[in-house]
Amino acid sequence: MARAINRHQVEDAAALLRAGELVAFPTETVYGLGADATNDKAVAAIFATKNRPTFNPLIVHVADMEAAEALVTFTPEARHLAQAFWPGPMTLVLPKREGAPLCDLVTASLDTVGIRLPAHPLAQELLRKAGRPIAAPSANPSGKISPTTAAHVRAGLENRIAAVLDGGACTVGLESTIFGGDPITLLRPGGIPLEAAEKALGRGIRSAKATALPTAPGQLASHYAPEASITLDVQTRGDAPHLGFGPGEADLNLSERGDLVEAAANLFAMLRDMDALAAAAETRKFTVAPIPDSGLGHAIRDRLQRAAAPRP
Ligand code: TXA
Ligand code: MG
Repeated sequence: MARAINRHQVEDAAALLRAGELVAFPTETVYGLGADATNDKAVAAIFATKNRPTFNPLIVHVADMEAAEALVTFTPEARHLAQAFWPGPMTLVLPKREGAPLCDLVTASLDTVGIRLPAHPLAQELLRKAGRPIAAPSANPSGKISPTTAAHVRAGLENRIAAVLDGGACTVGLESTIFGGDPITLLRPGGIPLEAAEKALGRGIRSAKATALPTAPGQLASHYAPEASITLDVQTRGDAPHLGFGPGEADLNLSERGDLVEAAANLFAMLRDMDALAAAAETRKFTVAPIPDSGLGHAIRDRLQRAAAPRP
């Protein structure tokens, strides 16, 4: 049984991390499965616990800019984005600093590091108390829906991790936007809308070709996979349970007022609930309303397409 740790016991969670244990913790995007990023055995346990098929690079989480500077070198554009969006739902892939104390498994032996300063107050407190960089992918079994509550983490990983730090429901609900390269390109859509980053840089940002990214679960065609089969861009409810967006008949609604921020925060929890509805209705399928392809809608559509993709 994973120990339940509340917001008054963050030092206990930090001590477990320092001892090489796995601790799930809240960020504003999704819950992360944390391990000491300087400890090879602890990081290897992440891959075993998630059943990750391959050793993909992991995002390294730090408490402040000083800790980030110790691990990576910032390009001027990356620094600009960091000033605009950190702490927050953004990851930057940057050149690893010579002698940075990160184990090779974290970076998959690349000479770059994916680094993030999360905004969630419990994540920040945990990182400060742990006193070292923390590697963390989303805290779900590989290929399954990302967790946005402590209960989701337990449902997937209960007996395989030391503890879960409970910080309630994640407010953003989508993984971080990943930028990398010089000039900066988009590696994964996420919690920071592309338009906001373009505004900060004062120029358009290209999406990197899929080949620019090491093959990673989040980039696989089928990911975030519920058990049910899913049909996207369905305007009105038919025979199958329907996940709505905006007004109209629906079994659950990502946002009745058509708000993309609210929809992002609801997405992963509602995919789980729709999966249960589809199983109960024995249709084994559900439909999803069209989501506009702007702002956070870009990342929501990306995750829905992966959830709906044929399984490998
Ligand atoms: O919101 C998030 O990003 C969550 C929370 C826990 O921080 N984490 C997360 O991690 O989504 P994960 O493991 O599901 O996705 C990590 C992504 C992968 O697509 C991986 O390829 C990319 O980050 N990545 C990490 N380091 C990289 C590197 N050095 N070069 C290129 N891509 C990298
Ligand atoms: Mg993930």
